[in-house]
Amino acid sequence: MSIEVGKLLDHRNGIQKKRIFWDEELYRLEMERIFARSWLFLTHESEIPKPGDFFCTYMGEDAVIVTRTRSGEIRAYLNTCTHRGNQLCQAEAGNTRSFTCSYHGWSFDLEGKLAAVPLEADAYHNLLDKDRLGLPRVPKVESFGGFIFGCFDPDAPSLRDYLGEMAWYLETFTARAGVELLGPPLKSVLHCNWKVPTENFICDSYHVGWTHAAALKVMGGPLAAMSGNTQAPPGIGIQVSTRHGHGFGVIWEAASALHRQPDYEEFLRAKQPEVAALLGEMRGKLYRAHWDAGIFPNCSFLYGTNIWKMWHPRGPHECEVWSWTLVEKDMPADLKRKIQKEALRTFGTAGTFESDDGVNMHGCTYTNAGPHARRGEMVSVMGIDHDSTHPELPGFVNDANYSEIAMRGFYRFYAELAEARDWNEIIARTHTVARNGGNSNGAPQTATPRP
Ligand code: FES
Ligand SMILES: [Fe+2]
Repeated sequence: MSIEVGKLLDHRNGIQKKRIFWDEELYRLEMERIFARSWLFLTHESEIPKPGDFFCTYMGEDAVIVTRTRSGEIRAYLNTCTHRGNQLCQAEAGNTRSFTCSYHGWSFDLEGKLAAVPLEADAYHNLLDKDRLGLPRVPKVESFGGFIFGCFDPDAPSLRDYLGEMAWYLETFTARAGVELLGPPLKSVLHCNWKVPTENFICDSYHVGWTHAAALKVMGGPLAAMSGNTQAPPGIGIQVSTRHGHGFGVIWEAASALHRQPDYEEFLRAKQPEVAALLGEMRGKLYRAHWDAGIFPNCSFLYGTNIWKMWHPRGPHECEVWSWTLVEKDMPADLKRKIQKEALRTFGTAGTFESDDGVNMHGCTYTNAGPHARRGEMVSVMGIDHDSTHPELPGFVNDANYSEIAMRGFYRFYAELAEARDWNEIIARTHTVARNGGNSNGAPQTATPRP
């Protein structure tokens, strides 16, 4: 590795070099060290409920097919034909008995086996070793709360361990009745580095009142007071950073604030006691909060605004945005429809808020085309002296709505993963720090611990 990631990121002081949003060499390293080692969101079980259902997506730049086999097992394969390497499945999703290549007609069954080859006797004299030519399988595929993730690294911890403290938080909305994603996802291209929207969603409540000032004012409602960033409402939320680079920010009692759907608010109020009884008062409170969140590395969501996103990298200066609507399974059908409409109106491809953000995502990337600009540094120091722990909430918590704690946590783990020899080194470091009285975030416990 010729590029030294540690020199680009100073997480203790909240500094990142601007070239992280532009550099080609760093991008190639990310594919090998970040995307090939992390658990990556693939799809939700609700999108492939029956045997033969499939969904095509990406793990980093690798195209994959996620399918349910005849026995109901969920598997993922590289979407590449083992004959001459054509993209095997060109549909986005559907139900099938086999995947047949459009180039020469090789056909693979749901278990990934090469099942049929045209003219096998005439062209190959029946000598083709079909058993060796099955589809390459993604070694690890697991679900949490119905969300299916895949990982290329066989040494990675289980999905549950990778999510760690974040799983405790996700249960807030997955554990009661379960959730589903309404698709198919909207897809569009953003001309920006994949980390720009990722860091935005994981913690950036600071931009909301400024970037979205006009939208907030026009919409009115409880968040309109944030418009223009003229005042910081006291105690309206917190920011959380958890081990392995995940994190989120909340605004209390604001889950339905952007939708402004009375029946959504009613639904949440009715179900909150169930969540509290199942998971405790704190998660009951989180259930009615609005969250902006990130699952490391490139999955983001807004709980409350109900949008679930993947930022698929397409080179250092472009990413594909895929957006689903997140709903609870036991919501009435008409409420699901209303929520989907609102989610797309705000954060769909042509959504008001999505359009506001796109301009800045582009700006944060393309300004670094200039070699002088990209020699500079950026800061994520907001709230750095107020990072702490919480008696009831796992991970690191900053007791303020405005803080870049989760951005610091994201880059901390990004550097750790990029520089570690393998997952064993990362796991050993976590245990060593915990044994010595530190937090599982990998940082020593001090009066003002820093993620
Ligand atoms: S490349 Fe797929 S059948 Fe030839
Ligand atoms: Fe935004």
